Amino acid sequence: MDSTAPTDLDGHVVVVTGATRGIGRGIAHHIGKLGTRVVVTGRKQDRLDAAAAELADLGIAHLAFQGDVADVATNGRIVAAAVGEFGRLDGIVANAQSFRPVTPLEDVTESDMDLLLNTGPKATLWLMQAALPHFTAAKRGRIVTMGTAMGLTGAPGYGPYAASNEAIRSLTRTAAREWGRNGVTVNCVLPASGQHRLPPAGSDPDREAAFAAMYEDHPLGRDGDAEHDIAPVVAFLLSDASQYVTGQSLMADGGGLMRA
Ligand SMILES: NC(=O)c1ccc[n+]([C@@H]2O[C@H](COP(=O)([O-])OP(=O)(O)OC[C@H]3O[C@@H](n4cnc5c(N)ncnc54)[C@H](OP(=O)(O)O)[C@@H]3O)[C@@H](O)[C@H]2O)c1
Repeated sequence: MDSTAPTDLDGHVVVVTGATRGIGRGIAHHIGKLGTRVVVTGRKQDRLDAAAAELADLGIAHLAFQGDVADVATNGRIVAAAVGEFGRLDGIVANAQSFRPVTPLEDVTESDMDLLLNTGPKATLWLMQAALPHFTAAKRGRIVTMGTAMGLTGAPGYGPYAASNEAIRSLTRTAAREWGRNGVTVNCVLPASGQHRLPPAGSDPDREAAFAAMYEDHPLGRDGDAEHDIAPVVAFLLSDASQYVTGQSLMADGGGLMRA
């Protein structure tokens, strides 16, 4: 690739929270293969070790950081570790979030709400705040947040998750307006890549059938691949190709929202 291309991420340093599996892992692999040095995080040390070993096998420069993003100070430490290791920070992808089982709204508890809000919009804000001084000093920064179509459709059983993700989209717009003059763009990706969340094949036929049914009336007719379908959209938002895009929500769902 031409090193002056606006899509170039070679040599950049990007934090991807929740990168031990699923979408975060796909993002880390994709941008790492483009030459980005990645700081990957997760709570579970064994998964983090496995993720770091994969990155090493791929020859991707990386730093693995263990911690719970619900903790304010952890987000500061993630950013400090990134800058300490690599001497710069170009972007963050606030991807990690904890989940609760599907629950009707009347049964949602305070702890359900607290978990989703603490690991969703609040964690996203703490990470953005920690990164801002570095972006301001560099007069350039890229923030990518994650939302869900369920927040738009009001998916039954997903109340806390949907509400927390709509709060993330709201923070995305406010940050875009407050920090645009600092050279910072802030955008939200709403992905669909759920295959990795399914139980082992054959163990829950009802859930597998419900998952398959989601793709019956779907423009592209398939689930998204974290590395090849979702991550390139994130890479665009981390690059200079998106320098005039901010405060936006971008569906990376194969058009699935249109059939909701
Ligand atoms: N998958 C989809 O189709 C979909 C759709 C819409 C939106 N999203 C959004 O995309 C993001 C990634 O989704 P996913 O399906 O890839 O999730 P996932 O498979 O559940 O993976 C979540 C990742 O975040 C980490 N994590 C979870 N809670 C954490 C915490 N409190 N502190 C630090 N790390 C934590 C996990 O590692 P540990 O367990 O080791 O902590 C893991 O690496 C989420 O924000 C989700 O809301 C996903």
